[in-house]
Amino acid sequence: MQQIEIIYPDDWHCHLRDGIALTTTIPMATKQFKRVIAMPNLQTPVSDVEAAEAYYHRIMAHVPNDVSFQPLMTLYLKDNTTPDIITHAAQSPLIFACKLYPAGVTTNSQAGVGKLLSLYSIFETMAKHQLPLLIHGEVNDHDVDVYDRERVFIDKHLQDIVKQFPDLKIVFEHITTKDAVDFVLSGPDTLAATITPQHLLYNRNALFVGGLRPHHYCLPVLKRKIHQEALINAAISGNPKFFIGTDSAPHAKSQKESACGCAGIFSHHAAIEIYAHIFDQANALDKLENFTSRFGADFYQLPYNQDKIILQKQSWTIPEEYPYLDESIIPFLASENINWQRVS
Ligand code: NCD
Ligand code: ZN
Repeated sequence: MQQIEIIYPDDWHCHLRDGIALTTTIPMATKQFKRVIAMPNLQTPVSDVEAAEAYYHRIMAHVPNDVSFQPLMTLYLKDNTTPDIITHAAQSPLIFACKLYPAGVTTNSQAGVGKLLSLYSIFETMAKHQLPLLIHGEVNDHDVDVYDRERVFIDKHLQDIVKQFPDLKIVFEHITTKDAVDFVLSGPDTLAATITPQHLLYNRNALFVGGLRPHHYCLPVLKRKIHQEALINAAISGNPKFFIGTDSAPHAKSQKESACGCAGIFSHHAAIEIYAHIFDQANALDKLENFTSRFGADFYQLPYNQDKIILQKQSWTIPEEYPYLDESIIPFLASENINWQRVS
C-alpha cells in the first residue's frame, strides 16, 4: 500500500452557495481545505462590501469552533461597480479578490459585465490596491460555437487586459483548452490559471456515454481530448502558474436532471482524493502537493498551511448521492471507484 503526506490543501475557486445549502457544503469544504475562494454568484450577487462580509459570517456560522477554515471572499463585478466600491473592498480584511463574469456566461451571471472596456478604470483601481482579478474566461456570444468561447475570449478580451494592466494579478479560472494553457504559459508572472478535476479526468465524450450525462455538464463545457491532455500536462508540469481550483458547484439533483439542466459539477465530497487519483494515473504524484498546497499560496503571497493530510492508495466507492437542500445531490464520480483515500 502506498501512502503520501501533503500540506493541507486550499481551493482557489469554489461555490459554497447559501442558506441551508451551507449545512452540506461547509462540512465538506472544511474537511478538504483550509482556505477557499468563495465565488460571489449567489442568486443576489455579492457585489458590495456589506454583502460580502454578511456572506462571510453566514458561512462561518456553519464552521465548527475547533476547525480552522478561512473563506476568502470575492466581489462580483457589474457594469455599475464604482472605483469607490473597489477602494472600500480593498480596506476590508475579508475581501480577497474581484470576480469578472461576462454577462450571461454561466449560473447567476445575468448581472455580470456587459461592456468589458468600461471596466478598465475598475481594473486600474484593483491594481492600485492589489486586489486580484478572477475571470470566467468565455464570451457569451451566441454566434460563437460553445466549444470556442474560451479561445475567442482570449483573443477578444484577455490578451488586451493582460497587456493593459501589468500590475494586476489575474487568474484565468477553470481553464479548459490548450489555447488557454499556451496563453498562460506565454503571459507574465502576474497571470495564472486554475484547473478543475473534471477537466483533467474527462473530455467532451463524457457528456454522451450511453446517453446524455447531465452530471458531467459544467461551464466552461468539457472540450476535446487534445485539450484535456494539454491541461493534464500543465497540471503535472510543476509550473507554478497552474494550481488547484475545483469549481465545485452544487446543484440539487432535480436541477441537474431536468429539461434545462444547470451547469456545475459538485466535487467537494472528495476533491483531493480525485486529484490524487488523476496525478497518480499520470505518474506524477510527486507534483500533487505543489499543485494543491503551494503554488496558489505562492501566487497570492500567502503562507503555506501548517497542518498536513495523509492519503492512501486504496480503492473506495464514492456514494451515489448526498442529502442537499430538501432533496439530494449527485456528487462527481457518484458510485465510481477511485484509488486514493484520505486517512487523516
Ligand atoms: C458554476 C455555478 O454553478 O455556480 N457552474 C459551473 O458550471 N461551473 C458557475 C461557474 O463557475 O461557471
Ligand atoms: Zn465556478
